[in-house]
Amino acid sequence: MSRIKITDTSLRDAHQSLWATRMTTEDILPILNQLDNTGYHSLEVWGGATFDVCLRYLKEDPWERLRAIRREIVKTKLQMLLRGQSLLGYAHYPDDIVEKFIEKSAENGIDIFRIFDALNDLRNLKVPIEAARKTGKHVQACVVYTISPVHTLDHFVETAKELKAMGADSICIKDMAGLLSPYVSFELVKALKESIDLPIQLHTHYIGGMAIATLLKAIEAGADIIDTATVPLAFGSSQPPVETIVRALQDTEWNSGLELGDLFAVADYFEKIRKQKGFERGVTRITDMKVFDHQIPGGMITNLYSQLEEQKAVDRWDDVLHEIPQVRKDLGYPPLVTPTSQIIGIQAVMNVLTGERYKMCPGEVKDYVRGLYGNPPAPINEEVKRKIIGDLETITVRPADLLPPAWEKCQQEAAPFAQSDEDVLTYALFPQVALKYFEYRQNKEGKDQTPAVAAETMTGQKTAAVQLPGLKNGKRRSGGDGEMDLEDIKELILLLDSTSIGEINLQRPEYSLLLRKSAAGTIDDQAGTTLIPADWKDNTADMSRTIPHKANCHEVTAPIVGTFYEASSPDAPAFVQLGDQVESGQILCIVEAMKLMNEIKADVDGKIVEIAVGNGDTVEYGQILFLIETEQG
Ligand code: CO
Repeated sequence: MSRIKITDTSLRDAHQSLWATRMTTEDILPILNQLDNTGYHSLEVWGGATFDVCLRYLKEDPWERLRAIRREIVKTKLQMLLRGQSLLGYAHYPDDIVEKFIEKSAENGIDIFRIFDALNDLRNLKVPIEAARKTGKHVQACVVYTISPVHTLDHFVETAKELKAMGADSICIKDMAGLLSPYVSFELVKALKESIDLPIQLHTHYIGGMAIATLLKAIEAGADIIDTATVPLAFGSSQPPVETIVRALQDTEWNSGLELGDLFAVADYFEKIRKQKGFERGVTRITDMKVFDHQIPGGMITNLYSQLEEQKAVDRWDDVLHEIPQVRKDLGYPPLVTPTSQIIGIQAVMNVLTGERYKMCPGEVKDYVRGLYGNPPAPINEEVKRKIIGDLETITVRPADLLPPAWEKCQQEAAPFAQSDEDVLTYALFPQVALKYFEYRQNKEGKDQTPAVAAETMTGQKTAAVQLPGLKNGKRRSGGDGEMDLEDIKELILLLDSTSIGEINLQRPEYSLLLRKSAAGTIDDQAGTTLIPADWKDNTADMSRTIPHKANCHEVTAPIVGTFYEASSPDAPAFVQLGDQVESGQILCIVEAMKLMNEIKADVDGKIVEIAVGNGDTVEYGQILFLIETEQG
């Protein structure tokens, strides 16, 4: 028996779980020296959702964040979470991108690669593990933990053995939903320790409240390393607090060696940041304690709930919670972790909102059913499969075998903006978001004093340049009339070129703006008198427009709140034109909702006599999209 080693997740998973990943590099830098001197085994600082959120919402270069952290952390190992072949994205990338990304991550400062596949499909881990081994850094492979008839102790042990054979230096039990109970944790760790000779690390989430006991039982069973977070970023859907664990193990053979004084210095710092930003402490709600019924990870619960709010369907919350285990069973018991959590979650929402199972399926669900994410742990229900993909064939090869190399293509496409290989990788992972970021960076480099700020909703659907009237030090000074109506923008995160953090309330509290500071410059106090997002347009007129009732006309309505697109991509032709003859089952448009593209199909044969919305318009639940004139009458 020996000392327990501890990984701190405060700079990655903890704020991803509790603060919607909104910790900025400026928040991080001042405490790094203290963290480096605390004696942690490692600091998880990169990967997961941090990369995407840095670019998309914080307008930061994630690579620069990693380098900035590496400059300060000289003693402690830096760790990242990698979604296997999906890297830090939501679908698989070609092998050459995976290899290059891992090589550059190591070069920029990562010491430990924690790698998982949402389905525990080992084929999806082959290339990332090999690439990480090639860098000479530590390769930690994950056994994703979940509960289902096929996820037995044997399954986990066999998976871990194979991961060792593939070259893993250590094994992580990844319990993203906090489903691992204390005594199962004891059995699992014991079984792993007995069958493989590798360090075992336990990653769990507090959620329902068992995590502290789960960690302690794992330690008793021989776990070598555990994950915790600083107390202001612990509890709730995050990790258990380090302070409690360290205290509990004092004067035992597993004493961590960490000093509580050091830990509380870190805690005090993050508590200050938390209060400044107005984030809540981690709490366990009753739905969190019901996690064994619905199996949804805490972070996903929050997302799912806000998606239902967006859909104005909060009253269907219980139905969605009940639907999730059913969809998970139908689709072969995938563990719920990015991206399968989104896939199962949105399908459950669709099933509930449309009132019919699998009537509407986002492209990602179809891809999943076709095997493009890998093999589900158990077979997919045949009837459901037919309903979702019809006669389309499923694939049997490793999904990334179907992806042609993309590095050179990305290099060419990103050439006008990219200043480094890291930029090309950023582009390869998130092309649209990357281009927007590069443009922002160029503008910022051009004129540091710009009073304009970029703003986005939490879901990133809407971008706006906002001019700030009478705003100084984060406080809005004058009331004034004539502000824009923020009717369809619920929440804006303003990335201000200022040092102020605060809140301004518009007329209504629900439109409070959360201000954030970013790199350089100050707000120009004289900058205009109205708040006008650049691309905001008043389409309330459109939405309330009454469609004249026509005889023999069938209404196609939006089954979901989202954005209407007439084509599959900006350069593709529209699915249908006015006057087109369409058949039942034919795709009419796409409504993008919950970050997924949902095809809307005709449910009758007939002629398109009205297209009631414009490309890019926001559509409400039940809003008429098309009128189709049918023959009979
Ligand atoms: Co986690």
